[in-house]
Amino acid sequence: MTGISRRSFFIGSAVAGVSTLTSAGRVFSLDAALESLYGPAPGIAKLNANENPYGPSPAALKAMMKASAHGAYYVRESAQRLREMIAERHGLTTDHVVLSSGSSGVLTYLALASSQQGAILAPDLFWDTTSLMGVRNGSNGIMRLPKSASLAIDLQAMETALNADISMVHVTNPNNPTGMVLDSDELRAFCSRASEKCTVLVDEAYNELTDDPAASTMIPLVKAGKNVAVARTFSKIYGLAGMRVGYMIAKPELLEKVKQYGLGDYGLNQAGVAAAVASYNDEAFLAFSKTKIIEAREMVSEAIRRNGLTALPSETNFMFVNLGSTNADSFRAAMADRNVLIRGIYRDYNHWSRVSMGKLEDVQMYVDALPAALEAAS
Ligand SMILES: Cc1ncc(COP(=O)(O)O)c(C=O)c1O
Repeated sequence: MTGISRRSFFIGSAVAGVSTLTSAGRVFSLDAALESLYGPAPGIAKLNANENPYGPSPAALKAMMKASAHGAYYVRESAQRLREMIAERHGLTTDHVVLSSGSSGVLTYLALASSQQGAILAPDLFWDTTSLMGVRNGSNGIMRLPKSASLAIDLQAMETALNADISMVHVTNPNNPTGMVLDSDELRAFCSRASEKCTVLVDEAYNELTDDPAASTMIPLVKAGKNVAVARTFSKIYGLAGMRVGYMIAKPELLEKVKQYGLGDYGLNQAGVAAAVASYNDEAFLAFSKTKIIEAREMVSEAIRRNGLTALPSETNFMFVNLGSTNADSFRAAMADRNVLIRGIYRDYNHWSRVSMGKLEDVQMYVDALPAALEAAS
């Protein structure tokens, strides 16, 4: 780098904007490219990945700037600090915590380990990306329960379906894409009994968004020594999806299976871990985000009611809307034509549409586009 130090380049680029030369010798404005390289282009309401666009928090941004200046070094102490913070909150040891690049990492590793032993039992509809990845190379697949009428996870049916071929039960609470939360007492009782027969995985990616996060978490079962693993992430309420930090809490023997497949701290990055440390206890930012998400849910609820539709009760930052006779893929296309990005059909749930709660102005775009998009898609 000529003329300026690396440090002033970094600070300058963060505040003032940068142009650089491409290999073809053309001037390329990073400022302009940044707009759509790292997130949605201006004017696009991105409501399709359950992100929290109010993040990163100011504290996380500051920590990332600092950590990035030390990006020459592999992650070590900062990851240990994060494990300590997590363990301390739950009265566990750092041996009960494994970090990974997003919770997708730990979720996939556990699915890989479990599918060596047997099948994974799961509801018909859940966030199945990592379990599908886990069973891809094994001979044991995912055993799905039949659809339930309410689209809630039927714990009784799950317990009845448990047999010697099952190595792991996969529960997502709140579930994605439904947004529904299970009754805490029923889930706790189910996890206790099921964990006598196999590993129980509870994916709590959206726990902090529920009405009562402390009551709905299954982490106390880990403390009680049960064969239960809980996955959490900094991608959702913490607003750090692009920084890739997640973790699993379980007893050390179970985490040994997970660690076989992961890269440990080698798979982490300084800025992400720094942002997670800075955000973990940032109650003001978390409360702010939750308030905005609840406000957005009210806007969507009101809009769908006005348009004669219903949605499942959500305790998350997304809603699963029943479109009646409208096809969810056609509706997604009609929304995209109006610069609103949402999800299309899941499995054979042809008339259900998931929308994430973004910034209120983006949610307003969804609300405004709803009548015309419904008409166009019908
Ligand atoms: C239920 C659930 N679990 C886990 C994840 C994975 O997120 P990440 O890998 O960013 O932690 C997602 C992402 O949407 C999710 O919906």
